[in-house]
Amino acid sequence: MPETTNLLDVEDLSLSFSGVRAIDGVTFSVREGELFSVIGPNGAGKSSLFNCISGVYKPQSGSIRFAGDQLIGLKPHRIARKGIARTFQNVDVFPAMTVQENLLLARDGFMRAGALGCMIRIGRSAREEREAAAAVEHYAELLHITDLLAAPVGSLPHGTQKRVELARVLAAEPRLIMLDEPVAGMNHDETGEMAATIQRVNRELRVAILLVEHDMSMVMGISDRVCALDFGQRIALGSPAEVAGDALVVNAYLGGAL
Ligand SMILES: Nc1ncnc2c1ncn2[C@@H]1O[C@H](COP(=O)(O)OP(=O)(O)O)[C@@H](O)[C@H]1O
Ligand SMILES: [Mg+2]
Repeated sequence: MPETTNLLDVEDLSLSFSGVRAIDGVTFSVREGELFSVIGPNGAGKSSLFNCISGVYKPQSGSIRFAGDQLIGLKPHRIARKGIARTFQNVDVFPAMTVQENLLLARDGFMRAGALGCMIRIGRSAREEREAAAAVEHYAELLHITDLLAAPVGSLPHGTQKRVELARVLAAEPRLIMLDEPVAGMNHDETGEMAATIQRVNRELRVAILLVEHDMSMVMGISDRVCALDFGQRIALGSPAEVAGDALVVNAYLGGAL
């Protein structure tokens, strides 16, 4: 077996919105277990790329393969079931429910596909119950939210809610996690903690992570490789140091700041 295999292969991907090229011939691969980041100024096409991979947008051309399977044309729930979990730029949790309930619900979705089984919880075996409880405990520990399991998620600070959201995603045991700007709206301390958390999750669970982020400094310390987009095009791909020092990347960020 080769030392590294690609989990996700994006090839020559293009997406336009009535003439605007949001993604313009982008190619990259995410390896099994890799922490891969996509950076770029606002409007670079990061969220569009995300939405293509998760099946929300349908690209006009190119290919997206996950573990060898073509994803383009599949509905979002089919893609999720293949083992791709995502977060959104806003927090995606049930605020009135407790942390534990949020995590168990994600686990239910994992145990039986289909909304019906999820809602009425028929026939869940004692073994499944035990496994679910153990999994929830495990992911809560990993994300340092064990003390908060009984708290309604809506009562928690924003940074903590984002950790709950990440735990919820993990509880579904995906092979690839996609995070869209996970530190948006966070203060300096929360940002540092989230970056460390993402790295811990990647290392301890060996789960591949595709991280989309505007804040370049946030991804540089934790990523295995980084891909930079600008105006829908790939302008750099390589190690964090290579990308951070790339003239086109520096230019794109300086331009974006003006
Ligand atoms: N649903 C949409 N309809 C029309 N244009 C869109 C839509 N989503 C994104 N765009 C355009 O595509 C480009 C890339 O946007 P986006 O993917 O949101 O960038 P980023 O996430 O990097 O900030 C922008 O020009 C944006 O205006
Ligand atoms: Mg975006």
